[in-house]
Amino acid sequence: MPTKATKRSPRVKPGHREEETLRVLISHQRIRERVRHMAQEIRRDFPNEPIHLVGVLKGSVLFLADLARELGGEVSFDFISVSSYGKGMDSTGEVKMNKDLDVTIEGRSVLVVEDILDTGLTLKYLLLLFEERKPKHLRVAVLLDKVERRIADVKADYTGFVIPNEFVVGYGLDYDERYRNLPDVCIVRLGPRGKTKIEA
Ligand code: PRP
Repeated sequence: MPTKATKRSPRVKPGHREEETLRVLISHQRIRERVRHMAQEIRRDFPNEPIHLVGVLKGSVLFLADLARELGGEVSFDFISVSSYGKGMDSTGEVKMNKDLDVTIEGRSVLVVEDILDTGLTLKYLLLLFEERKPKHLRVAVLLDKVERRIADVKADYTGFVIPNEFVVGYGLDYDERYRNLPDVCIVRLGPRGKTKIEA
């Protein structure tokens, strides 16, 4: 079973720790502004309606927290945890559920909140699962969309940023469980020498 790090970073050598260089791709300021606009767009589509946010653990946590505060009105949260195996073109598309939702989504206006849309296999699995549960509305908000990596035919209803096919960390996204707490979204690269550094 591939680990989180091996899934997205082809240059990681097991057991060999290399230096990492981070370059800011999207600053926290830009994220904040974009999340505010996304929230306005979502509220325009669902005025005066309770919105049930479903965060996909763990990467979506920071985005969900900020989006929820910008949405205003009646908002509730729930979380689901899934793992997907294989991210390449030969992917089986297998997705495993680690933790299901705590409460029913039947009859609710549900917004699935994802940090990143990559192959789309995870989202495809989730949409099929949730549709069966008969929500009133089922929409998707993603902060980052790596359009060129798509395998499954899925789209988000609300997208923060379309990004290039780079290994990104920060604002919830990790590299080997690190960097989730960075305020910016950064591209991480493994350098030959030197300390980890953050370049603006
Ligand atoms: C990321 C992300 C999505 C999924 C998208 O989760 O949060 O759930 O990958 O990839 P896909 O479009 O190729 O299916 P990840 O497995 O990295 O777990 P994490 O959120 O806990 O970091």
